[in-house]
Amino acid sequence: MQTVKIGNVEIEKTAALAPMASVADKAYRTICKQFGAAYVVSEMVSVKGLYYSDNKTDELCHISDEERPMAIQLFGDDPLYFKLAVEKIEKYTQSIIDINMGCPVPKVAGNGSGSALMKNPKLAAKIIEATALAAKCPVTVKIRSGWDFDSINAVEIAKIAEESGAAAVAVHARTKTQLYSGKADWEIIRRVKNSVNITVIGNGDIVSAEDAKRMYDETGCDLVMLGRGTYGRPWIFSQIKSYLESGEVPPEPTARERMDILIRHAEMIVADKGERRGMAEARKHAAWYMKGMKNAAAFRNRCGTIETMEDLKSLICEALAE
Ligand SMILES: Cc1cc2nc3c(=O)[nH]c(=O)nc-3n(C[C@H](O)[C@H](O)[C@H](O)COP(=O)(O)O)c2cc1C
Repeated sequence: MQTVKIGNVEIEKTAALAPMASVADKAYRTICKQFGAAYVVSEMVSVKGLYYSDNKTDELCHISDEERPMAIQLFGDDPLYFKLAVEKIEKYTQSIIDINMGCPVPKVAGNGSGSALMKNPKLAAKIIEATALAAKCPVTVKIRSGWDFDSINAVEIAKIAEESGAAAVAVHARTKTQLYSGKADWEIIRRVKNSVNITVIGNGDIVSAEDAKRMYDETGCDLVMLGRGTYGRPWIFSQIKSYLESGEVPPEPTARERMDILIRHAEMIVADKGERRGMAEARKHAAWYMKGMKNAAAFRNRCGTIETMEDLKSLICEALAE
């Protein structure tokens, strides 16, 4: 299997898991890793929250050996806080620090962070420089195509990232104003790849092994990254790996196998977060895993009410009996 380098970190050239707040937590990253995700990224963490020791920090930044290589993703709008945050997270010995320049949500972009930094290249450069200078590991930047269709500037920002000391850029091929809808236009990934010498990670709308290969072929990117295409199907990573290696896509797991994976996943969430909070978070995952099963709509609705591991297991028994 070929590998790709982000700074000194070697990563299998298969597929990475995208950062997803409230979805890609430790359990999610671990299960994706177990199915062959080459690289994973934490949920985004506020540099100010980190500095002022928000008590969620440890949960967000803790890395188990199974998750490595893994990046911690930071967001903010002040180079000084990035420097302070980098110093504070050193103890987690993350492989990579990723800077969020793509988040569109008002709480983030409305405060000059996330995707708003694509409209402020000077500040973006300062943030990347400050982070790269303070960090002992490689620094990467996750961007979008641009703010809107009239200001597509991923190439400009990727060049700035390279000049400011970043070792890679990940490009979500949508504008900020598209949010998560509309089709991702992979052409921008190809243009970024042709404009910089650092590693380029392509992202947007990969939902199958064939899509992953097509993004490699059409854009020339160094690594592909998947977000929503992994919902309820972490085995997509092993399908991508097999397809890249042999041209064969292994079949989808059977309904029983899928439910076994769901239980394993839910147990991992509960181990991290306790049953009460863990099961509340497991509901959406359960609904995703049940997609495509017989009478899925009814069972998926009922996922919204599960409170205990036992509730989940009995729902699964019923679903498998259909
Ligand atoms: C629920 C959700 C949460 C997300 N959270 C983050 C985040 O914390 N940081 C980030 O850079 N991108 C975040 N994203 C964007 C994804 O990383 C990815 O760029 C986007 O979903 C496009 O990829 P996809 O089409 O494969 O889903 C999030 C996306 C979703 C759907």
